Amino acid sequence: MKFSRYATVLASLCSFVPAIATPVKNPGKLQLGNRIPSPKQREDKTKNKYFHEPGGDNTLGHYDNRYFGGVVTYDERRETQLHMVHAYLKFFRDQGLDTWIAHGTLLGWWWNGKVGQPPLRLPWDFDLDTQVSGATLKYIGDNHNQSMHKYVSDDGQTEREYLLDVNPWIWERERGDGMNIIDARWIDIRNGLFIDITGLSETHPDTSPGVWSCKNYHRYKTSELYPMRETVFEGIPAKVPYAYDKILVDEYKEKALVDTEFEGHQWDIDRKEWVKTQETIEEEAKKAAEEERKKEEEEKKLKMQQEERQRKKQEAEQKEAESASSKDENSST
Ligand SMILES: *[C@@H]1O[C@H](CO)[C@@H](O)[C@H](O)[C@H]1NC(C)=O
Repeated sequence: MKFSRYATVLASLCSFVPAIATPVKNPGKLQLGNRIPSPKQREDKTKNKYFHEPGGDNTLGHYDNRYFGGVVTYDERRETQLHMVHAYLKFFRDQGLDTWIAHGTLLGWWWNGKVGQPPLRLPWDFDLDTQVSGATLKYIGDNHNQSMHKYVSDDGQTEREYLLDVNPWIWERERGDGMNIIDARWIDIRNGLFIDITGLSETHPDTSPGVWSCKNYHRYKTSELYPMRETVFEGIPAKVPYAYDKILVDEYKEKALVDTEFEGHQWDIDRKEWVKTQETIEEEAKKAAEEERKKEEEEKKLKMQQEERQRKKQEAEQKEAESASSKDENSST
């Protein structure tokens, strides 16, 4: 199995890394002052960050800064994600590379796995998540970094292009300073939305053999991951981990597999789909109306200001004309 062959390589890599990273000598004295990072140190930390987003919140944090041109609408995001995941899964399959669905994307699949038809993603999920083995990660880093991928949808109607970008920090298989926990991204270059790709490595083969970990402390046993299950995601072949239900409960708790209302959406049993609740629809309509009202008010104000300026200008012109004519009168006497 490729997985275990590379495990040894990665394991030796992982145990070697801390030796390089630790300071040369322990001064032997506990200096409390040193434990609070100076502004300079904090600044240096963000300098290490490879992937950049236009902001840190739930909205802006899900765009790649290089391709960001503004927040897209709910519908555009859904449409972007559909083609993006098709192109991604197809590329990995064509190349014989192992990848599977993870985190919120796996939860979306779980809710509608039996149907296998779009839309399977959770509509409130801003990004898509997949995982690969550490070996695959290294392989795509060596062979496909910065590659561009043209895509045409099956019906020939949609053309897209994606960038596969691999973080140079993939050699570090533990969290580190936390700036580079995302190992690679599959980015839609039209708007900057992406799929987050993270690699799993057996980080402590001596003390925890058979435990695979990403850089953000998610851990999985080999038997929970393998053998992968073949399934369908958004209408095309995809893989999910063997014990997907246990993985989901570990990450999201039982509730996430039971509650049929979440984030302003409701599970529609007949359509087998998450739909916006009536409340969400009304709230959005209210917000839209409020924005419309504000815009109209703004326009009205602008118009009044223009009229006022126009009026003042006319007044001034009239005064000037009057004074000119009175001068004329004066000069004629
Ligand atoms: C991928 O390419 C970018 C741009 O050339 C580079 O900065 C980065 O280090 C590369 N990543 C890997 C894993 O080599």
